[in-house]
Amino acid sequence: MTDNRKIDPTTGTETTGHSWDGIEELNTPLPRWWLWTFYATIVWGVIYTILYPAWPLVSGATAGLLGYSTRGEVAAEIARVDLSNADLTESLINVDMGGLKDNEELHRFAVQAGRSVFAANCSQCHGAGAGGVVASGYPNLLDDDWLWGGTMEDIAYTVRHGIRNEDDAEARVSQMPSFDWLGAAELDATAHFVRSLSGLAHDEAAAQAGADIFATNCSACHGETGLGDREIGAPNLADAIWLRGGSHEAIIQQLKTPRMGVMPPWQARLGEADVRAVTAYVHGLGGGEAAMDTAQDGSAD
Ligand code: HEC
Ligand code: HEC
Repeated sequence: MTDNRKIDPTTGTETTGHSWDGIEELNTPLPRWWLWTFYATIVWGVIYTILYPAWPLVSGATAGLLGYSTRGEVAAEIARVDLSNADLTESLINVDMGGLKDNEELHRFAVQAGRSVFAANCSQCHGAGAGGVVASGYPNLLDDDWLWGGTMEDIAYTVRHGIRNEDDAEARVSQMPSFDWLGAAELDATAHFVRSLSGLAHDEAAAQAGADIFATNCSACHGETGLGDREIGAPNLADAIWLRGGSHEAIIQQLKTPRMGVMPPWQARLGEADVRAVTAYVHGLGGGEAAMDTAQDGSAD
């Protein structure tokens, strides 16, 4: 090493004076523009940590002078959406359900809100796609085969009060009695007749005997031709759509030990707006029916 400044003869650049084994280090300073950019980022970093949340603390972080937080931003956004939906929610609560479809914007809003209500509250029984579960007696809500009715008003009532539950005095109720007192041959004949109603494979002679048993014991609820009765949620037995299964054995089992579906009431849990929203959603799944009597009050309660 030496303290004499030297110019490297090859490049014409000053050396730092450091030399190892005869190899000398050239003194090439960083370009000005690079240095100033570097200083600028340091200044920017300091200002940023003063204005915005930056330094981690034991719990949380420094808040920053501007008081900005992503959580606060989300809360503000939610408040903004709620505010813009407040009008629609209010209208939904007051609309005549039978006429909801006439208000396109409100109907679209209701169906969309209803979709998430359904996913959160109904899908565990009726299935994520609302296709139901036959073995468990959870009805398919996609088709137009309704136990209790498929108008907006009918569906809203079912959702509000539920079916055969102990929590709501206005729940829909009905009971199919047990026919285990019928002899084995009679049960067999009745099952053949029930299957014949849907055009399923059956024994013709047995079905004829079963027709009489059906007329005496079943037609009061299921109708003379087996079309069912929505007043009491008695299923249509002639459409090959089954709540409990349509095999010979499943029908006999239903006659001996009738199973009856229970659904909880939703009025108190969901509130009026969500009851109406999920009703609009279910109604729009494919099987929704128009109200017979449009003059009827739409509150459906
Ligand atoms: C605990 C299970 C369960 C839950 C949760 C449930 N349901 Fe049901 N639901 C049933 C059963 C069981 C039936 C059929 C009752 C019967 O046999 O009459 C039914 C019937 C219905 C019907 C009548 C169908 C018809 O053919 O008339 C509608 C509409 C309905 N549910 C909508 C809903 C909606 C909307 C929700 C969510 C807010 C919901 N259900 C939540 C079990 C449930
Ligand atoms: C008091 C009314 C009543 C009478 C009488 C009655 N049922 Fe029912 N039946 C019902 C109801 C209500 C249901 C629906 C149960 C449920 O929702 O889970 C039902 C369900 C059924 C089912 C299941 C349908 C399916 O889709 O899986 C069959 C089959 C049936 N009944 C056959 C009969 C036959 C056959 C008789 C006569 C021997 C009879 N019922 C008498 C009310 C009745």
